[in-house]
Parts: sequence; C-alpha cells; structure tokens
Amino acid sequence: MKDGKVIITGASGAMGSVAVRALASQGRSVVMACRNVQKAEDVRSRIIAELPDADIEIRRLELGSLESVKSFAEGVGGTPVSALFNNAGVISRGYSLTADGLENTFAVNYFAPVLLTKLLLPLMQPDAMVVNMVSLTCRFVKIDGKSLRPGPEDFSQLGTYARSKLALLRFSQEFARRNPSIRVNLADPGIVNSNMISMGKWFDPLADVLFRPFCKSPERGVQPALRALASEERNRYFVGKGSKPISERYSDPELDLRLWKETERILSEVGA
Ligand SMILES: NC(=O)c1ccc[n+]([C@@H]2O[C@H](COP(=O)([O-])OP(=O)(O)OC[C@H]3O[C@@H](n4cnc5c(N)ncnc54)[C@H](OP(=O)(O)O)[C@@H]3O)[C@@H](O)[C@H]2O)c1
Repeated sequence: MKDGKVIITGASGAMGSVAVRALASQGRSVVMACRNVQKAEDVRSRIIAELPDADIEIRRLELGSLESVKSFAEGVGGTPVSALFNNAGVISRGYSLTADGLENTFAVNYFAPVLLTKLLLPLMQPDAMVVNMVSLTCRFVKIDGKSLRPGPEDFSQLGTYARSKLALLRFSQEFARRNPSIRVNLADPGIVNSNMISMGKWFDPLADVLFRPFCKSPERGVQPALRALASEERNRYFVGKGSKPISERYSDPELDLRLWKETERILSEVGA
C-alpha cells in the first residue's frame, strides 16, 4: 500500500507543506498538487536540503478550474495512489464566480476535491486513504442542495466557507458508503496560524496581535490529518490528539445522497 503516491493539495501552504515534509521523511512518494508552482518549488527545495532522498514531485493544480482538475488527474496517469489528502482550501473575501460559473469558495473547497477524488478513484490502491480537511465551523451551519450554488445574497465569508466544508464532510460520508474498499477520514485542525485566518478586514492587524499568538502552529494543526493518513481506521473524525466517530449531528444518509446527486447534476451542467 505504501508504495503508491500520496497526493496532497495545497501542499505549498502552511499545513500542506508540513504534511509534505512529514510524509516524505517517512519514505512516502509525495505529489505536491499546487496552483503556484514556484511557491511549491521553494517548499520542495527547503525539504530536499534537509532530506536529500525525499521523493517529492510537483504538479500544477488550480482548484478554481475543473479543467485543471481534469488535466491534473490525467497527468497522474497510471501511477497508483495510496493516499489523497484534500487539504487545500480558501475563505473567499467576497462573492465571485469561477470560469465554470461556480461560487469560488464552493469551487475550491468542494467541487474541485469532489471531482478530483472521483477521477483519482480508478488509480487508488485497494485500502487507499482519503483524508478531507474540514473545520469546526461545520457545526454552526446547515446545508441543502441549494447551498451548493450560493447567490450573492447568500454569501458571507465564514458562512459560505463553513457550508463548503460541511458539503465536503457530507460528500466524504457518501463516498465512503459507495467505495467500501477505500478508507475515508476527516481531519479538523482547530484554529491555526496561517494565511487562512486573515479576513481582509479592518480588524486584521488587531487580530494579529490579540488572536494569532493563541492559534495553533501549522505543525500542530496538521497532526490530526497526519494521524488520519497513517491510521488503519476509517470514517473517523480526527481532532486534537485523538479521533472519534463522525458526530451524530451529521448523520443523515438521505441528505448525503441528495447532495451527491445534486453535485453530480451541477458538475454535468457545468461540463465537468
Ligand atoms: N487555518 C485554520 O485555522 C483552519 C481551520 C480549519 C480548517 N482549515 C483548513 O486547512 C486547510 C489548510 O489551510 P491552511 O491553514 O494551511 O491555510 P493556507 O496556508 O492558506 O493553505 C491553503 C492552501 O490551499 C491552496 N489553495 C487555495 N486556493 C487554491 C486554488 N484555487 N487552487 C489550488 N490551491 C489553492 C493554497 O495555495 P497557495 O499556497 O498557492 O496559496 C494553500 O496552499 C484548508 O482546507 C483550510 O480550510 C484551516
């Protein structure tokens, strides 16, 4: 199992780059799936300077484009995949649509990882691991089929972000039901000191002084995901120092199925 590639999206970011280093140091073959290849090269060079034998490949992936997701998956080709870490994410500051006509937060945090996971499925080794990065914000929102394509009047920075992560959580549950040979786990890093927590608001400088020092480091925040990737368990929610079953609060297989079908419909409508 461990011979296959580990694909990490957002691998040039705060937690993604820590995950690349950790997995490469365990001798895993890592694919950094990144939109900014130069930034990824810088991360890779730093890791190689420390770990000269690290097996790290960089492939371009712009999650705001379904075409980019498709060409990424084609580029992975026949290489077996032992693990996929859907780590990349964004909190869009305002309402905007991607070229595919999807709201940007949902495009990056939900539709792209959904499509990527499905396209990589044929390459996944039996018992491959999929880890999806979610957020504690999921618990404060609800979603239905209409939530997947919010209009400007539905948009709020944190609300839309939370709904996109809840959609990913619900996709994970349905994907796991449909693909019992694949192990699926969720990881919740807590609140982590990264670019992600800058809201682009007047209070950012204040938050940098009063709030950031109390956030977890990326090294600490990524630990639940690393434990999830190494785990023999499945359908668990990794948070803090342990893991637990996914909360009953999210137990609604009919809703998971409705969202799955609506997602398929939307993806086919936008030509994915
Ligand atoms: N920080 C927190 O408190 C927190 C809490 C809960 C969950 N999370 C989740 O943890 C994950 C990692 O976040 P982080 O804190 O490490 O933040 P980060 O440093 O901003 O990392 C986010 C990564 O996503 C990538 N990304 C964003 N938009 C993309 C796009 N359109 N196409 C391809 N890649 C894209 C970024 O690429 P670039 O490197 O090119 O910018 C970056 O590598 C995210 O899913 C986030 O939602 C974070």
